[in-house]
Amino acid sequence: MEAINASIGFDRKLWRQDIRASLAHAAMLARAGIISLEDEQAIRSGLEGIAQEIERGVFEFATELEDIHMNIEARLTERIGEAGKRLHTARSRNDQVATDLRLWVRDTIDGVHAQITALMRALADRAAEHAADPMPGFTHMQGAQPVTLGHHLLAYVEMLERDRARLLGCRRRLNESPLGAAALAGTSFPIDRNDTAQALGFDRPAGNSLDAVSDRDFALEFLAAAAISAMHLSRLAEELVIWCAFRLIRLSDAFTTGSSIMPQKRNPDAAELVRAKTGRITGALVALLTVMKGLPLAYSKDMQEDKEPVFDAAGAWSLSLAAIEGMIRDMIPDTARMRAMAGAGYATATDLADWLVRVLHVPFRRAHHIAGELVAMAEAKGVSLEALSLAEMQRVEPGITAEVFSVLTVEASVASRTSYGGTAPANVAAQAARWQQALA
Ligand code: ARG
Repeated sequence: MEAINASIGFDRKLWRQDIRASLAHAAMLARAGIISLEDEQAIRSGLEGIAQEIERGVFEFATELEDIHMNIEARLTERIGEAGKRLHTARSRNDQVATDLRLWVRDTIDGVHAQITALMRALADRAAEHAADPMPGFTHMQGAQPVTLGHHLLAYVEMLERDRARLLGCRRRLNESPLGAAALAGTSFPIDRNDTAQALGFDRPAGNSLDAVSDRDFALEFLAAAAISAMHLSRLAEELVIWCAFRLIRLSDAFTTGSSIMPQKRNPDAAELVRAKTGRITGALVALLTVMKGLPLAYSKDMQEDKEPVFDAAGAWSLSLAAIEGMIRDMIPDTARMRAMAGAGYATATDLADWLVRVLHVPFRRAHHIAGELVAMAEAKGVSLEALSLAEMQRVEPGITAEVFSVLTVEASVASRTSYGGTAPANVAAQAARWQQALA
């Protein structure tokens, strides 16, 4: 029973929040005249002493005492006697744990939000640096049209901005205090739930005591935000792995490992691990959704299983953010190689078709066909589009003039994409500057 029942092995992580909430509760009990001022003072100094014991690593956690709440309360009574036994007046472990975990998730949201912001800043800085450097743009992972490296990096800034917004939305909805809901029905003591809500930085007390003790939406929303963000980080990690494989970037020794047998190896392990951590984060969301489904009101012990997925996912998310930020700042792009690859595979064939439309007023579908024939001709000769002679081109479309060559370079291609949100270096530089300013 002890082995299956105890949560102290993992919920000790909540000790700061548990003490913070107990201090607020005791202060309110005294203000409401439910306990004496002397008892409140004893409780306060007792809890502060316990915080120091835990901080210094000398607190003895006991499995027989089940969880962090009982461990701290038992120690409090050991330290201050009778007054310690009054702390649990007008509350239950059900509203206590709901309060503690909300506070923990809220603190963690603030930390992760700052980490995402730091990563966005790193991406925006590197994007500003490489606003005009062409790289191959892909669809179906086939070379499609040239883009700039800065443009590609800023795509991730947009994703991360949505991750931040999801976190803030979660934080806003989370910020109601369950404290004072007691076991499930509220309490007969004249408590002041606004008092404790305010002391703990909540916007208001939760409106329904049954919901307050049984709601874990905040943890689920946090995990959903984590899962989506981890998916973003995994995509970026995958790009880093691919770019390393094709030597489009180089990562330093700081973020790679060697091989025990192949001396030349430089493996992007950190990126691979970020890619892999997505599995446990997504798993955490599915685990908690599955725990919560079908639970009748109000509290059931099932809900003790909420903490490990939340702690594990938060740790993996935070570590992934730190690793990706490090790699983004660390990577050295091989811009010459990127430029060369950007032009390979007839990546400017669309520019040729667009020129036929713009200058010769050929309908786009026919222009697409003509450009296709020219690509086939170049392919047969084993040369690039711009290596075809004007005479050869005119054999396919007599109206073509020498002016066409000006749109066939990679630089001309990216520079021409000035539509809002497009990859033109001037656009990218402006977007990077806008983000740098917004994130400063
Ligand atoms: N350790 C418990 C949890 O994490 C605390 C709440 C226990 N409540 C109870 N009625 N047994 O959920």
